[in-house]
Amino acid sequence: MFHPDLLANKRILITGGGTGLGKAMAQRFLELGAAVHICGRREEVLEQTAAELSVATNGEIHAIACDVRNREAVEAMIDEIWSEAPLDILVNNAAGNFIARTEEVSPRAWESVIGIVLMGTLHCTMACGRRWLKEKRNGTVLSISTTYAPVGSAYVVPSAVSKAGVDALTRSLAVEWGNRGIRLNGIAPGPIPTQGAFSRVLPRPELEAMALDHNPMHRFGTTEELANLAAFLVSDGSSYINGEIIRMDGGEFLQGAGAFSNLGRILTDADWESLKPRKKS
Ligand code: HXC
Ligand code: NAP
Repeated sequence: MFHPDLLANKRILITGGGTGLGKAMAQRFLELGAAVHICGRREEVLEQTAAELSVATNGEIHAIACDVRNREAVEAMIDEIWSEAPLDILVNNAAGNFIARTEEVSPRAWESVIGIVLMGTLHCTMACGRRWLKEKRNGTVLSISTTYAPVGSAYVVPSAVSKAGVDALTRSLAVEWGNRGIRLNGIAPGPIPTQGAFSRVLPRPELEAMALDHNPMHRFGTTEELANLAAFLVSDGSSYINGEIIRMDGGEFLQGAGAFSNLGRILTDADWESLKPRKKS
């Protein structure tokens, strides 16, 4: 779908790049010519992904263990990357989530999700943004959000409040830094099967079935679809898109919003016939 050197000479950091959507984006960016850094907490997972993608794409990929909740650790990671060459693109993808009744979520659990999703995104964005501004370099930030960020969602409330903050950060800095060559955008994906997400938010077959049922296309998204949209949004091909959170969910969000969306499940062909206006004789 893209020219194979779309991301040539681009240096990209993907947080949470060892698994799931982060790994899929790493693969696509490497195929399109970028040099990629991936970070996460588990060093062995990162090393395995880096080795696998290096062979698969013949591209330049580096793995760095870093917990994005820790601001000093993020600064040290960004310093290490910058000492070789500055980044051009940051992808805030690392996240934590689980389903729970909110009244039962412990203080440590709140801190954990807010720490990864909101504070981790803030630490990485500020670490890169300050350097780009100081060096008068262009930069792009892409944050992976969720469809429920603008409206909230029951049972994933620590994630919902954190992703809403990520969206606000994206839109705010797009305006504040837009006049200095820095673009910030987001992607709000619907369900895309990954071990990390589905084991935590759709852990039972009936929950997966419910998610499919809520989707007009009756299928989940794929990691390739997500990686292609991400490649476009971080590339110079989208250079006038700034401050947007692009939903990619097969229409699931709109199906939930439309007051009459579910009529098709309830009304039969005979019902529709009987509802047609009677011809006047
Ligand atoms: C309630 C839970 C819990 C659960 C953990 N905790 N899992 N509480 N329900 N299912 C509590 C623990 O009991 C502990 O609190 C606190 O959270 C911290 O957990 P730890 O395991 O000690 O530590 P930590 O490593 O910080 O764990 C982070 C995590 C975990 C977020 C809880 O799930 C994780 O590592 N996740 C990373 C990957 C991930 O979540 N990927 C999915 C992203 S999907 P106490 O008080 O007992 O000490 C997504 C969008 C999906 O974001 C949208 C789909 C459509
Ligand atoms: P995933 O495989 O669990 O990815 C999460 C990644 O974040 C892991 O690689 C994890 O690695 C890393 N991470 C977690 N805590 C971290 C920390 N403190 N510091 C650094 N890295 C950390 O799940 P995914 O489905 O690919 O999710 C990727 C992104 O897509 C997330 O932002 C998620 O909210 C979003 N999303 C996913 C879906 C979906 O259906 N899959 C839908 C909407 C949005 P370690 O555990 O090794 O740290």
